[in-house]
Amino acid sequence: MDTAIIFGITGQDGSHLVDLLLKKNYSVIGVSRYSSTDNTGRIKHVLSNENFKLVQGDITDVFSVSGILKEYVHVDEIYNLAAQSHVGVSFKQPGLTWDITGKGCLNILQSIVDLDMLGCRFYQASSSEMFGDSSDIYENGQRYQNENTKFLPQSPYAIAKCAAHYATRLFREAYGLHASAGILFNHEGPRRGENFVTRKITVAVSKIMFGVQDLLSVGNLDAKRDWGYAPEYCEGMWKMLQVEKPDDYVIATGETHTVREFIEESFDVLGEEIIWEGEGIDEKGILKSSGQMVVNINPRYFRPTEVELLIGDASKAKTNLGWTPKVTFKELVKIMVTADYNKQKERHEKK
Ligand code: NAP
Ligand code: GDD
Repeated sequence: MDTAIIFGITGQDGSHLVDLLLKKNYSVIGVSRYSSTDNTGRIKHVLSNENFKLVQGDITDVFSVSGILKEYVHVDEIYNLAAQSHVGVSFKQPGLTWDITGKGCLNILQSIVDLDMLGCRFYQASSSEMFGDSSDIYENGQRYQNENTKFLPQSPYAIAKCAAHYATRLFREAYGLHASAGILFNHEGPRRGENFVTRKITVAVSKIMFGVQDLLSVGNLDAKRDWGYAPEYCEGMWKMLQVEKPDDYVIATGETHTVREFIEESFDVLGEEIIWEGEGIDEKGILKSSGQMVVNINPRYFRPTEVELLIGDASKAKTNLGWTPKVTFKELVKIMVTADYNKQKERHEKK
């Protein structure tokens, strides 16, 4: 039986990855940080699985990290998914973001070397946010980002991710560690945190339909993201550790959509059409059926610097890993809206 350690087990991806690994008959150790409130909501269903063990640890504390690794020196795979992962929050808490998202990775890598664990395989959760303002252009004029596109980070989060990304590369080259970094583009699903724009939208749209919420307030409607389905992306992580040669891989759909389109599509799933009126911070989204204003702009959601366009080219992952995305943008929105709508419906019916 293969063994894996997942740092960041309580997050969206940690919860999908543990599902995948348990299905593949792994024994999984999940590391979660101390919290005064329950942070295991996404992994409740695996807590009693005999092949799963939850241990407490914090990646900003190198003693904590090495203490855990010491217990599992023969572990086969280590996944570092732990991060302060909200880009907006990273502008308000840059030091904390640096410690968790940047230095946390180094704490794991150096512990692997110090404990002579170079036989294990390591995955680092790198991010398309590292590209920031940068992209390349195909001959047909379309823009894209791949493993060779330069990084131009636009947030404290992205800078921390770049540091962790380069540390992963360095430990691969300096110590021969099987260390791979997945440059994952935005990936979503019903387990996504409600502070990220997609889930914020699907929760709000569902609540608006049941009259529990009046208004969805957002920031930049025109930012473009390459949104994929989280469980498929976690399979990409696992695939990176199964090939002989460690490397960096972009995982993306190759399609990009605006926040505005995500909102339109979400209402469309529930049979509603949005009409946009006004401009800039005065722009409003109106329900065509009733004339109710349901979307407005709140500048508090603007970021000091914004990443305007993300669109990934995952050809390398397709060729070397056999990874391709299956869930389309429309299907993703439908999965998320349906899940949130059904939750609201259940609550409504209980009343
Ligand atoms: P997430 O839901 O925010 O989960 C982050 C995880 O990190 C949570 O389990 C969190 O624990 C844990 N964590 C935070 N600080 C920690 C610390 N000091 N010590 C130990 N654990 C800590 O993020 P996600 O969406 O699953 O993403 C997983 C990883 O992929 C992250 O590194 C993220 O930056 C990266 N990434 C995500 C995307 C995406 O679109 N989702 C794209 C590219 C890269 P709590 O539950 O206690 O907060
Ligand atoms: N969160 C949020 N809330 N974002 C908003 C809002 C809002 O009310 N209104 C507009 N946006 C815009 C943001 O400015 C950004 O351009 C886009 O929606 C997506 O924001 P998020 O969903 O917060 O994701 P992100 O792209 O900043 O970061 C996510 O993807 C990265 C990969 O590219 C996170 O998961 C990162 O951890 C990940 O690395």
